[in-house]
Amino acid sequence: MEIIRIPRILQDTCKKHLSRGRTIGFVPTMGALHEAHLSLIKRSRLENDITVVSIFVNPIQFAPSEDLEKYPRDIENDIKKLRTAEIDSLFLPDKAIFYSEDFSTYINVETISEKLCGRFRPGHFRGVATVVAKLFNIMKPTRAYFGQKDFQQAVIIRKMIKDLNFDIDIIVCPTVRESDGLAMSSRNLYLNEKHRKAASAVYRCLSKASDSIKSGISDTEQIKEIMKGVISEEPLITDIDYASVYDPETLEEVNEIKGEVLIAVAVRLGDIRLIDNILFIQ
Ligand code: PAJ
Repeated sequence: MEIIRIPRILQDTCKKHLSRGRTIGFVPTMGALHEAHLSLIKRSRLENDITVVSIFVNPIQFAPSEDLEKYPRDIENDIKKLRTAEIDSLFLPDKAIFYSEDFSTYINVETISEKLCGRFRPGHFRGVATVVAKLFNIMKPTRAYFGQKDFQQAVIIRKMIKDLNFDIDIIVCPTVRESDGLAMSSRNLYLNEKHRKAASAVYRCLSKASDSIKSGISDTEQIKEIMKGVISEEPLITDIDYASVYDPETLEEVNEIKGEVLIAVAVRLGDIRLIDNILFIQ
């Protein structure tokens, strides 16, 4: 595995691979790698000749009030995990090289970026779309791998690809969970023992919503009440940003549940924000 820090060098390396007819799979991450990141890497290794992983805690997707400074960083362990996973290249850009001082171009995928998490994290998806577009332009990967856990992020990247004619296949991989259902996340490292226990209510609330739909409830208002009921049993969950049922393409809340729907939730345990979702197909 080679570690590349300079965009121009990675660009040349990828160009060489592509000119030799090799396919490139790309897995963008912010590090503190866990099993879910490794599952995306495994899928990329299966489907491509070359796998490139990036680790970059992208400052422009964090609001000033958010956790950029304390976001978990564990680069030594990450490198070990990536060597074991047998990837080809790790892109580890330096912030100052990646964003020059006069950087001023941003990508805003309108409307869908303002729904769900976008309402509570203004500017977040503009930062995500911009960094992913930059990474795509450096590597020109054949395929790029994203997790369903960040469903809105994947929908936004897909829309960007379509609107701006990027020639890249976006592959969305299933959410990887702990044994109690909690979706894996680098931010789970913030949870103390009590918070960690309380966090399992997030998946319980999604399961109960999906069971209720299966049992015949098709009114979103009723499902919302059921979801809020599960969450409110956990006193350590201080806020619900959203908990409802959405159209998986437009991310608009639906009134009546039919066909394929996204059941999604975002809660706060003090400073810690957790999100999760499941796709429900009737
Ligand atoms: P990060 O949170 O490190 O996640 C990297 C990728 O792993 C994302 O596609 C995310 O959806 C996926 N992932 C995280 N937890 C997962 C889980 N439990 N199951 C399945 N996939 C999971 O998402 C980002 O970084 C950044 O926003 C990034 C795309 C790298 C842009 O900076």
